[in-house]
Amino acid sequence: MRIATSVLLLLPLAHPLLALKAHDFKTCSQSAFCRRGRALAERAPTAGSSWHSPYTIVPSSVALSSSASSFTSSVKSELYPDINFELEVRIHEDGVVRVRMDEVKGLRKRYDEASSWALVREPSLKNVKDVKWVKGKNEVKGVYDDVEVRVQYQPLKVSLWKGGREEVVLNGKELLHMEHFRVKEEKKEPETAEGGAEQAEQAVLQAPARPTAWFEGEEEDGLWAESFSTWTDQKPKGPESLSLDIHFPGHANVYGIPQHASPLSLPTTTGPSPHYTDPYRLYNLDVFEYLADSPMSLYGSIPFLHAHSAESTVGIFNAIASETWIDVSHPTEDSTLTHWVSESGILDVFLLPGPTPEDVFKQYARLTGTSAMPAHWALGYHQCRWNYISSEDVRSVQKRFDEDDFPLDVLWLDIEYSEEHKYFIWDAKNFPDPVAMVNDVAALGRKMVVIVDPHLKRVSTYPVYEKAKELDVLVKGRDGKEEYEGWCWSGSSAWVDFFHPGSWDWWKSLFRLTDGKDKDSWRWVDSTENVHIWNDMNEPSVFNGPEITMPKDNVHYGGWEHRDIHNINGMLFQNLTSQAITTRGSTPKRPFVLSRSFYAGSQRLSAIWTGDNMGSWEHMAVGIPMVLSNGIAGMTFAGADVGGFFGNPDPEMLVRWYQVGIFAPFFRAHAHIDTKRREPYLLEEPHKSIVRDVIRLRYSLLSVWYTSFRRANADGVPILRPHWVMFPKDKKGFAIDDQYFIGDSGLLVKPVTKPGATETQVYIPEDQVYYDYFTYNAYRGSAAGKTITVSSPLEKIPLFIRGGSIVPTRARPRRSSPLMKKDPFTLTVALSQAELATGELYLDDGESFDHQKGDLVWRKFDAWTLKAAKRTRMTLKSSDMTKSGQTVVDGSLVAPGAYRADNAYAKSVQSVRVEKLVILGLPKKPTTVIVQGVAQKEGWTWEGGVAADGKKEGGASVLVIKNPNLKIVDDWLVEVEF
Ligand code: NOJ
Repeated sequence: MRIATSVLLLLPLAHPLLALKAHDFKTCSQSAFCRRGRALAERAPTAGSSWHSPYTIVPSSVALSSSASSFTSSVKSELYPDINFELEVRIHEDGVVRVRMDEVKGLRKRYDEASSWALVREPSLKNVKDVKWVKGKNEVKGVYDDVEVRVQYQPLKVSLWKGGREEVVLNGKELLHMEHFRVKEEKKEPETAEGGAEQAEQAVLQAPARPTAWFEGEEEDGLWAESFSTWTDQKPKGPESLSLDIHFPGHANVYGIPQHASPLSLPTTTGPSPHYTDPYRLYNLDVFEYLADSPMSLYGSIPFLHAHSAESTVGIFNAIASETWIDVSHPTEDSTLTHWVSESGILDVFLLPGPTPEDVFKQYARLTGTSAMPAHWALGYHQCRWNYISSEDVRSVQKRFDEDDFPLDVLWLDIEYSEEHKYFIWDAKNFPDPVAMVNDVAALGRKMVVIVDPHLKRVSTYPVYEKAKELDVLVKGRDGKEEYEGWCWSGSSAWVDFFHPGSWDWWKSLFRLTDGKDKDSWRWVDSTENVHIWNDMNEPSVFNGPEITMPKDNVHYGGWEHRDIHNINGMLFQNLTSQAITTRGSTPKRPFVLSRSFYAGSQRLSAIWTGDNMGSWEHMAVGIPMVLSNGIAGMTFAGADVGGFFGNPDPEMLVRWYQVGIFAPFFRAHAHIDTKRREPYLLEEPHKSIVRDVIRLRYSLLSVWYTSFRRANADGVPILRPHWVMFPKDKKGFAIDDQYFIGDSGLLVKPVTKPGATETQVYIPEDQVYYDYFTYNAYRGSAAGKTITVSSPLEKIPLFIRGGSIVPTRARPRRSSPLMKKDPFTLTVALSQAELATGELYLDDGESFDHQKGDLVWRKFDAWTLKAAKRTRMTLKSSDMTKSGQTVVDGSLVAPGAYRADNAYAKSVQSVRVEKLVILGLPKKPTTVIVQGVAQKEGWTWEGGVAADGKKEGGASVLVIKNPNLKIVDDWLVEVEF
């Protein structure tokens, strides 16, 4: 406890803070190791030619491994000749290069386990015969494919060359510094006798310059302790920070390193007129009312960066778990320099050679895993509020949704469901019948999500806390012995140390739905399979801790300090909860566990959201690049609170916010306890009907979302695709982050995020036809890129189908998504200028893991046009995607041999029809429509209009084939002659 309890009791119950208090969070200049790192970078250029990196490889130590594609070598620093470092370079099977450096036989061990939590498995290395190592006088070079990894001895430098181009350079600017462990030197007391000051000055003048000064600076800065506000971080291990420059000589755009409320293409933080004056910070924090344009740290951290140019894309994954600051600058117009400074940990950097954005995604997914395949219902609409206050409240909210015909899949309960914020324990007064309440919600196919935070109320009446104490799995204070005590919602609290293996089985047992072998232990009996979980406050948030989190000198399992593992902490909590939910019943089911904190690898677990945003237009707008940025860093199942967590958005803002929300992978409305109720049924007309249509639009597109999730689950390519990902050579698109594509569907959306907007400008990146999703108006882009202006009054979302796409939708409005299982499909075939189109549809039972055994339906649709002398024929074909031999990141689409077209799931939906085909952009009215070889005399309608293959803009021609008597699971052909 670092501040008096009495002070906390005076704070408002709603939240201990009232508005963003920037002074609650450190700037770089308030963080000693960041200061040291930046000072190093600032000295480097001014030192001119005298500046050089003190780190060199001992050439005789370079030991190539005979069995794998790697080598190790000793590294020395000329500043500290007695300290030993080791460098290891490994070349993975897929061409990724891993560079590791650690201090060897030092006074202590640096934390080296970040990668073990992030990586999905230890990557296999390239076959030794596929890499040619060439040793030169001052370098060793590994050559494979069109890649060269050059490791220079003096000064130490590692660079990756591809196709003869230098793509990434480590320590090219010579800012590498691994502060070694050292013994604290006792300072001499200053002279106090008469004349002392004069003598001291003389002594300074005569003292030889510290040999390290040119590199480390003249003065020791915060090496052994540092204070911030009322907290002092004792640093018993002393300095151990790591500085590393990573230069991308040919890439002017960098993306990633979420989470920040900043543009997608990361603006500069140093150099002439930087956009931000502080570096991007990665340190998971609970930042109340965060700024809408800032490099400040937020709740999650993924140290993964893409560097992009029209020629190529490369990636960097820096497996570090401690607080990290990253400066970004452009030494030249077409290059980017990044400087990473981390508080502790080893150097463990992965260089992902690309060369396309898609390759980088796949390389990253091979390292850290792809995103989990979510339950289908989790893509529906989630209604949350802090708080629905009783089971009657829950029932009445659900009733209002139904009365007003709003689709809804999930109702949420925030912290007030629990007795005194003892999570799992229902507040019996307001929630006397939790299981009956959940069953009432589930009766309409819906789920509930209930919050379980990581802080445990320290009272003997709380069985969860008592058991954690008994198992000795609580995080310890700085003495490493006593449990750490801090403050959170539940008052005086303790935190489970999920790094402690002893906590794992116990945590999972809490969620078991039936008694297990541990039947004497407490478990959550008032729960059902329809309850899923929200893990909030897991940065962790500690109201009376430094920067609202845990003191860095707290101690975790294995003796590691909190500073070493901080950014991984929240992911472990979500991981254990996800495992618990998966295995709690008799058969494994896909878990939904929303986490606020995240790290590299969190995508394997479930969803995250962007935290406590504000009900403002700025926050609505910045939510888009934030979700895009999470996505390109693997964390694709993400969304922002619809409506904004704080404040009371007016109806116009709320409508626009729903329009943004339905185009995020995770779609949830949420609001702070002090806000007015704003469930969509409370809106007046016309806003109410507009929002109803918007949510229905989301539901009609659920198959598009689900298919996109399956793709992301298979190969790691994100669901939301920014322009630079879709059109990597189009420079005009590199900075665009307010419009994006959804998976491979061909849908391009630009949500409106400005008040009073009636028109919106949309960038069309190619010489192609794009159809307005609602009106079928055809727009044309140009090869050089073209900006069009479209009308976007309140009820209209600028949404387009890219020519060449086939989009599967379901039009029946339903109360919840499970009720859509047998609904028929509409296929919209949006012909390209070349009169082609293609699309996909993925389906499975939406909740079990049977899809991994091949219980699924994955259809491929293709349309093409053949011109003959007398007539032209367009063919539309449905075929089985799983037969097309597609592969994914780690193997084939389904387990080899497991898939059968007549699998149990496919059988369960074999009656599902295609109820409508809509074909856009045919040049002429058809003479014949042939379905499965049978000419259709009727059942189709034609409306003339603009043809796909022309140059005209305006209403496209529309052929509608109604009820063609086709099944979605079958192979079939439809032919149109004209
Ligand atoms: C903070 C979360 O960010 C917010 O969404 C939640 O409502 C409150 N904690 C209360 O649990």
